[in-house]
Amino acid sequence: MRRPLLAGNWKMHTNVLEAYLLVAEIGKCSVGLNDRDVLLAPPYTALHSVANVLHDSDILVASQNVCWEEKGAFTGEISPTMVKAAGGTAAIIGHSERRQIFHEDDEMINKRLLGALKFGLMPLFCIGETLEEREAEKTFAVLEGQIRRGLAGVSPEDMKKTVVAYEPVWAIGTGKTASKEQAQEVHAFIRNLLAEMYEKAIADSVRILYGGSVKPDNVDELMAQADIDGALVGGAALDPESFCRIINFT
Ligand code: 13P
Repeated sequence: MRRPLLAGNWKMHTNVLEAYLLVAEIGKCSVGLNDRDVLLAPPYTALHSVANVLHDSDILVASQNVCWEEKGAFTGEISPTMVKAAGGTAAIIGHSERRQIFHEDDEMINKRLLGALKFGLMPLFCIGETLEEREAEKTFAVLEGQIRRGLAGVSPEDMKKTVVAYEPVWAIGTGKTASKEQAQEVHAFIRNLLAEMYEKAIADSVRILYGGSVKPDNVDELMAQADIDGALVGGAALDPESFCRIINFT
């Protein structure tokens, strides 16, 4: 009932030429995948060329962040309408690297999310706990806070358009994946919380992606979990062979 979504976050990798070569490879291995969505989030400088290459394909293009304003004095930011004009239809928001390295807080992430929705971009709203928080058994409390504050003011209609990505910080880029049981437990928690905040039908329709060291050898078991509806992939999304295997999960 929920269409799987496999997303590649290229982070600060690939110049324009490298992005072009990478997307060409991914385009080839995604032909005929009609029962799932594939999304790529290149760096801003490659957004337009990647979207151009994908013009005739169903692969979606996202920015890695987005501002809440359409234009103005916001040096270093990118607006939702700029993303759309460049060919993007979605935006990653609240990635843990934005939270941790660039100190974006829940309030700012909420503004970005509302901005994306206002201008018609599909938000990929990221949440996740650190190792310290997990070890202190604060995982659910941390996630609940991120979800409630991050989704403040998001209407039920807009919630239906939003994708949630659970990315435990300790599993990102570390080669340590959450076990399928750990991931499923958290995804079920997130869905229950959404049911409480909205309604069950909405919670049941929202796609919840797992991110954190998703690789060809663990994607199948993760995707087999009841509440895991997709993956947000970092490192393995830069290797065409690995990403092709991931989007072709069985
Ligand atoms: P890795 O797949 O490299 O762990 O990165 C996950 C991630 O942060 C995707 O947004």
